[in-house]
Amino acid sequence: MKKRILAALLSSAMVVTLLAGCGSSADTAADANAGSSDSAATESTAAAGTKVGVSMPTKDLQRWNQDGANMEAELKAAGFEVDLQYASNDVQTQVSQVENMISSGANVLVIAAIEGSSLGEALDMAKEANIPVIAYDRLIMNSDAVSYYATFDNYKVGTVQGTYVKDTLDLDNAAGPFNIEFTAGDPGDNNAGFFFNGAYDVLKPYIESGKLNVVSGQKTFEEVATPTWATETAQSRAENILSSYYADGTNIDVWLCSNDSTALGVENALAANYNGTYPIITGQDCDIENTKNMIAGKQSMSVFKDTRTLASQVVKMVGQILNGQTVDVNDTTTYDNGFKVVPSFLCEPVFADANNYKEILIDSGYYTEDQLK
Ligand code: BGC
Repeated sequence: MKKRILAALLSSAMVVTLLAGCGSSADTAADANAGSSDSAATESTAAAGTKVGVSMPTKDLQRWNQDGANMEAELKAAGFEVDLQYASNDVQTQVSQVENMISSGANVLVIAAIEGSSLGEALDMAKEANIPVIAYDRLIMNSDAVSYYATFDNYKVGTVQGTYVKDTLDLDNAAGPFNIEFTAGDPGDNNAGFFFNGAYDVLKPYIESGKLNVVSGQKTFEEVATPTWATETAQSRAENILSSYYADGTNIDVWLCSNDSTALGVENALAANYNGTYPIITGQDCDIENTKNMIAGKQSMSVFKDTRTLASQVVKMVGQILNGQTVDVNDTTTYDNGFKVVPSFLCEPVFADANNYKEILIDSGYYTEDQLK
């Protein structure tokens, strides 16, 4: 195993130059945070037979299909062989798939974990075989096998959502009080806490002063979390809240949802169980269904995380690792996985709503106009 890896590492010293990403290899953190994807971006050719294993959590959610497809296309364009697998949101399936990638000769692994802490055996195997692991979008927890982390600035995703609510309600000036509910993500996903905390930190002063009233009283992450980010789970919790706290005609002004799959559940629940003034609803990912809802006025905003940008950054990291080059990172303090602070590259999330979606989603080629009809 070691010989094979060494051979691959040596031959991939021929991997030429850099790949496009959130920023160039010479970028400062500030440049990279500006999301520059063009300067100094070049191509890469991989040594023949250099293989990258890409493990994605599920095909059920649009974003992971896009992430997987973008990674595969970019890696292939750079000359790598790609072993792309989706794990049906089943942890054991993901573990087996990663183990198979290792035994069939992957030189680098890129893993978007279903559950950050549950990849133990597969990671031990990767470490044993000296295979570098890049945590993709979600941090892999409690392991020293993870070499790098590439994601979007997860806390910032939450602050963009919270700031949108603050500005739209003009919380500093309006008399209020306004009613709000929260729906957060999967407790097994390290990102979920960052999203929730980012939003909550912006809104906390107004909750404490009484200008924002959490009518259900559910305001800790544990109370508002949605296991596996499931739309149905978010929907049934929203239905319970609506029937328990809003059936008497109380208006809900804001439903702060951490992402689009949970926002969809809340939107379904509202459609069937609520007749009051339609609330502000936040989201994340700009999934097609949610973007259509934004256009139709059923969701106020989403946070756009361009999966092409993240894929480019990761492909660049793969090339740098295999070339023995310095790997671009722009954050070395935030992402402690319980074992170490994992050097990270954070791409910049972008605010999206019904006013700018054409520019950021259609003009950029992310969606066609037809897909949003
Ligand atoms: C991702 C989000 C996504 C969520 C559900 C998170 O880890 O960062 O973009 O909406 O998982 O799949």
